[in-house]
Amino acid sequence: MAYIPEHIVQQIRESADILEVVSDFVTLKQKGTNWWALSPFTDEKTPSFSVNPSRNIFKCFSTGIGGDAVKFVMEVEKLTYPEALRYLAQKYHIEIEEQELSDEEKAKKNQRESLFIIMDFARKHYQNLLKNDTEEGFPLGMSYFKERGFSVQTIENFSLGYSKNSWNYFEDEALKNKFQKNNLIKAGLILENREKKTTYDRFRGRVMFPIRDLAGKTIAFGARTLKKDDNPKYLNSPETPIYHKSDILYGIYEAKNHIRKENNCFLTEGYTDVISLHQNGIQNVVASSGTSLTENQIKLIKRFTENVTVLYDGDSAGIKASLRGIDMLLEKNLNIKIVLFPDGEDPDSYAQKLGQHEFSEFLATNQQDFITFKAEFYLKNVQNDPLKRAEAIREVVSSISKVPDRIKKSVFFQKCAELFEVAEGVLVEESNQILRRKQQRQQKQKEQEKRRADRTKNLEKVPNEKPKDSTDSLPPPPPEVDIPTEVESDFWADLPPNISPPTVDFPPENFETEQPKEDLQSGTLGELITKWEKECIRFLLLYGQNILDENIKVWEYLFEETEELEFHTDIYREILEIYKSKLADGLEIDVEYLIRTGKPEIVEVVSDFAVEKHTISQHWFGKYEIYVAHEKELLPDGLFKHILKRKHLIIKELINENTKKLAQSPSLEDEEKILRTHLQLQSVQIQLAQQLGTAVHNLIIE
Ligand code: CTP
Ligand code: MN
Repeated sequence: MAYIPEHIVQQIRESADILEVVSDFVTLKQKGTNWWALSPFTDEKTPSFSVNPSRNIFKCFSTGIGGDAVKFVMEVEKLTYPEALRYLAQKYHIEIEEQELSDEEKAKKNQRESLFIIMDFARKHYQNLLKNDTEEGFPLGMSYFKERGFSVQTIENFSLGYSKNSWNYFEDEALKNKFQKNNLIKAGLILENREKKTTYDRFRGRVMFPIRDLAGKTIAFGARTLKKDDNPKYLNSPETPIYHKSDILYGIYEAKNHIRKENNCFLTEGYTDVISLHQNGIQNVVASSGTSLTENQIKLIKRFTENVTVLYDGDSAGIKASLRGIDMLLEKNLNIKIVLFPDGEDPDSYAQKLGQHEFSEFLATNQQDFITFKAEFYLKNVQNDPLKRAEAIREVVSSISKVPDRIKKSVFFQKCAELFEVAEGVLVEESNQILRRKQQRQQKQKEQEKRRADRTKNLEKVPNEKPKDSTDSLPPPPPEVDIPTEVESDFWADLPPNISPPTVDFPPENFETEQPKEDLQSGTLGELITKWEKECIRFLLLYGQNILDENIKVWEYLFEETEELEFHTDIYREILEIYKSKLADGLEIDVEYLIRTGKPEIVEVVSDFAVEKHTISQHWFGKYEIYVAHEKELLPDGLFKHILKRKHLIIKELINENTKKLAQSPSLEDEEKILRTHLQLQSVQIQLAQQLGTAVHNLIIE
């Protein structure tokens, strides 16, 4: 995403009126100088959510979340920092000059925006037909939905529609409204018949399900035929610049706040499952639209919860295959439950059959932990065949070995040992073998990748690229990243202590030769945070591909640690985004990659790391040679210790900042807040100290 200039960020922050922004989401009542409401972040009976208009901040005492308008939008809409800024910019009609965009990027952006407008037009067009078209839309479409038991409210909530059974009905309407033909084609709404040079509507005589993105914008359609045995039953929009099937889940916009509140996400297969469940009072539900889950879809869920309940059709084809798909959820450390439906029923039909109350009860009593479910499923087919039994054990153990969390893992081993009536040790040993094989595979893959990369590097000695030896000849001076520290520390001071920035720093402190220790300790909060961001990026680029734990890579760990915090330093944020987008293409990038392909500012920053890498690796093999063999074992401890250490520093600084506020003779109310924050911070500090004690202790033993 393009870069938002700092002065615009300031303008957005100054314009955003916290009362106005919050009022779009909850109903506020004034009491004294503050305004109060039921918290949008949790279910509660008495209002604990307050807005202080004079300081232009909010605070939710139930969840501890607090901050300015940007923070509020981030939390309530689950947006990233730049996304929230864009949201507010739109609300306050602040134009974001995208000076950083090239002409090509500008064209792309305009293209996307016109597609959003077209899709919105199409949504309204289809909705209107469903309600008002007396020939087809109402008599056919509406009665179909009625027959399926959808209420008027439900139809409205999901913006359901109808497309005319005609070759050009939509196209004609769209052209009349001055939309361009080529954009209609790009949006996937009309198709071109190349030979005859004619165009025709993609969706004809179908009921329409708009697919929305996280912000509620229509980005695609699913369309169901009304004829029996028509093929395909569902016709979907193709991939377009605004619709990537693998990045979105049907219903996520409607479900997201409910998923967060319930701290659970029901996962179904179909559009109608989502809609029926909603109508039956279950609103934390999304659908994968008939395909198996992708990484990005899992990430989407993980923004709101760690708990997923998969709802399985009784007749789901190839249950074994789908079980494998769920392993991916395990790998991402989600807690997974399964509900199996009776033969011939899907969540939609069963919810309609049982009704709200009984259906909820059915879900509650039939949900089963995934591993147990899988074990029992395999056990059923084993009988007394020892070969089948061994295969079943291997299957289940392979799932367990994908669970990154050690404690959860050991619980699963115990459970599974009981079910299969084998010694736990057997399972653990099997799992170790699986992991060893996996590591070998990964190692091989990495070597292959490296060889491939080396080959392309050699090919790429193109003159207009940065010369390859630039790292040796010019380590440019470290860029002075300037963050307006006052604004930053103020912003952070309003964050609850439990999401204070975690920090990462590796290799273990002995290796930090180029960074004097006082340097780490000193500085304002803003500086500490900038340093932390730098460390994260340095670490990501130097060690990202290393395997940290049995199956977590360092980058995965770092992404988890940085997830809830949007980076404040633009250049680091940009690098992070590049890393993520390349990852989506299956590429784990490193310093060398960025030096070859990055823009000058990025090259400048990362060349610095490359030099450090050189220094570090010398130490690695020098003084601390003994540790080389244990690199893998040291990695987690090193990270752990350093996260906590730097977090400790930041907490200390937060306490300082908070205490300073007391000296500014605050109002009684503010004073109470300050004290509350102080107590919270202190308890975090104590916890940290304890954890640190243990970590240090462990390190000494080693
Ligand atoms: N699907 C699809 N294309 C198809 C068939 C299915 O995209 N040709 C997707 C749709 O999202 C659909 C889901 O897979 O909702 C589940 O398919 P299925 O079980 O066949 O449909 P239902 O949702 O049960 O639809 P209905 O009850 O309307 O028959
Ligand atoms: Mn169905």
